[in-house]
Amino acid sequence: MKIQLRLPPYTFQCCSSPFKQKSFVKLIGWRSHETDTPKFLLNSLSPTLSIILKSESPPYIYAMKNIIITGGASGIGLAITKLFASNGNNVFFIDYNESLGMEVEKDLFDKGLKVTFLQADVSNLAEVKKIFERTPDKLDVLVNNAGISHIGNLENTAEEDFEKVFQVNAKGVFTCSQAAIPKLKSNGGGAIINMCSVAATIGIPDRFAYSMTKGAVYSMTLSIARDFVSHNIRCNSVSPGRIHTPFVDGFLAKNYPGQEKEMFEKLAATQPIGRMGTPEEIAGLVYYLGSDEASFITGSNFTIDGGFMGLKV
Ligand SMILES: NC(=O)c1ccc[n+]([C@@H]2O[C@H](COP(=O)([O-])OP(=O)(O)OC[C@H]3O[C@@H](n4cnc5c(N)ncnc54)[C@H](O)[C@@H]3O)[C@@H](O)[C@H]2O)c1
Repeated sequence: MKIQLRLPPYTFQCCSSPFKQKSFVKLIGWRSHETDTPKFLLNSLSPTLSIILKSESPPYIYAMKNIIITGGASGIGLAITKLFASNGNNVFFIDYNESLGMEVEKDLFDKGLKVTFLQADVSNLAEVKKIFERTPDKLDVLVNNAGISHIGNLENTAEEDFEKVFQVNAKGVFTCSQAAIPKLKSNGGGAIINMCSVAATIGIPDRFAYSMTKGAVYSMTLSIARDFVSHNIRCNSVSPGRIHTPFVDGFLAKNYPGQEKEMFEKLAATQPIGRMGTPEEIAGLVYYLGSDEASFITGSNFTIDGGFMGLKV
């Protein structure tokens, strides 16, 4: 049996079984390990909680949450996967890239984290529905993060590129959200967080198709939030500025071969804070929006961009 106790300032997780005399205690920031419950922890708890920790079958206090993250094998999605998992949640991450997904799953599993990799293309509804069947009936949080980049304006965007980027970035949010709704409902509610972009609401040069998809993500966020507010399902979006991930490196390599370093510096400098963001900085905001602390927030878009949208350079 597994419980998670949330006692500020620490969150820790404890599980024990009738077959194991030892408890498994994990503090945020500590490496996972099996150990006897540390005395200093027991001493710092109320008598009731100490008894719970010492008992073989502790009662349910704060259930770990079931989380699904798309595009969880790389960049921002990977940071989100790690953050939810290292806080004792049961994380399922979906990714198109099978070899990378398996590598990430093994790496995190070896670190004692509870993660399951599910290979699927988020733009394929049948595939998505099939893999959602392999996740628990009750879902707390869905993070629609999978996405691809595209560069081009209205004149030079090829039809197949327009369709491809729409299929992944926009349709992928539709497929996963549709598959998630019954599980969120049977959970009594939950949260959907969509990865949007600053490109959704301002004109960025040469991002015609990409911006269109993020505009769709933004409006789907509002629509989902409105239609499921009575089911206690919150839906919000996060709009990052430039974040240094393989997405950016791949984008530069593909579109600016030989000029990667120069273009990287140029992109970093467009943000008043003077650098690109990190995946971990985005993950922190997503984690908050998925938590009970964000229970009054729905239908909102959160810009996280080093001042790109709000400050004059
Ligand atoms: N990096 C940035 O500067 C930035 C800025 C704003 C928004 N975003 C958004 O953040 C999200 C993540 O970007 P990132 O920078 O971490 O990218 P990334 O390329 O590092 O990671 C994206 C992940 O999505 C997966 N993926 C791609 N297509 C998929 C599909 N059809 N089905 C399943 N998985 C698929 C990839 O395999 C990869 O693991 C994207 O939606 C992107 O548009 C990124």
